[in-house]
Amino acid sequence: MLPKDMLSLKDFSLEALQEILQRAAYYKKKDGDVFSSLKGKNIAISFWEPSTRTRISFELAVQKLGGRIINFIPELSSEKKGENADDTIKTLQSIGADALVFRHSSPGIFHRVSQFVEIPFISGGEGCYQHPTQALLDIFTLLESGVKLSGLQVVMVGDILHSRVARSHFYAFPVFGANLTLVAPPVLLPLELVPPGVNWSYNLEEVLPSGDIIYLLRVQKERQGKSLIPSLGEYTALYGLNEKRLSLLKEDACLMHPGPVNIGIEISSGVIKTFENVYPDRILFQDQVRNGVYVRMAVLDLLLAGRVI
Ligand code: CP
Repeated sequence: MLPKDMLSLKDFSLEALQEILQRAAYYKKKDGDVFSSLKGKNIAISFWEPSTRTRISFELAVQKLGGRIINFIPELSSEKKGENADDTIKTLQSIGADALVFRHSSPGIFHRVSQFVEIPFISGGEGCYQHPTQALLDIFTLLESGVKLSGLQVVMVGDILHSRVARSHFYAFPVFGANLTLVAPPVLLPLELVPPGVNWSYNLEEVLPSGDIIYLLRVQKERQGKSLIPSLGEYTALYGLNEKRLSLLKEDACLMHPGPVNIGIEISSGVIKTFENVYPDRILFQDQVRNGVYVRMAVLDLLLAGRVI
């Protein structure tokens, strides 16, 4: 039995997550077939923050499953006339939404709202708190690439403090058996944030040689009221993946990034070109994006219909 909502992966057992991943693999294998598990269903997609990958892949997922999209655009909505998010969500349910897919900047809002909606509520990213489908599609991408997750060393580098992707992976990587090490400057990696069993370091060059996966995160300038780091140049000098640091990587290390990538900050354009041209199987950025569609199809299908194919 799956929970009604997907707000945090912690609400899902390993078996439930594996069921979603198996369903995603099925949809990827059968890509191009016509599916109808969301036939007659209305999915409200409402993003209060910018998005390319998550929003479009959820839209495509609904369409591939034969559902209808209620496209809520906050800037064109009655929110501009003073309606609050809670009333907006109740309104979407009353209009006929069968599920809600949301992104919002306020951590905590989804748990509150999910108490008063009866239909499935799926997070597309909640402030700095959680981004469950991103973590799931990352796991899917790794499994698909053939790596063994048990004992895998994942080095996650970047703005941990503001990263909902990191917080979702605090659960996802360990529950699948991978070891996670966080790397960032002290202001972006407060130690009270580091969960038990997760390693950390302030020194990228010390940790890079241990990584099977180097998972890069962008510095979220939009979430730093007053910039916490002295300058992006200094951040890049200490924590950017550049040509000089490539020699520190394991010879089969893979690169991941949830996107959007700030080229020239967390990773140099030279490193991206080298990987794309010389080691294309070891840069997984576009695989992550592609797999987002199938993972979101599986989430929608199982939370709404729960049918056996
Ligand atoms: N990874 C991710 O959430 O990307 P978008 O902001 O483009 O959806």
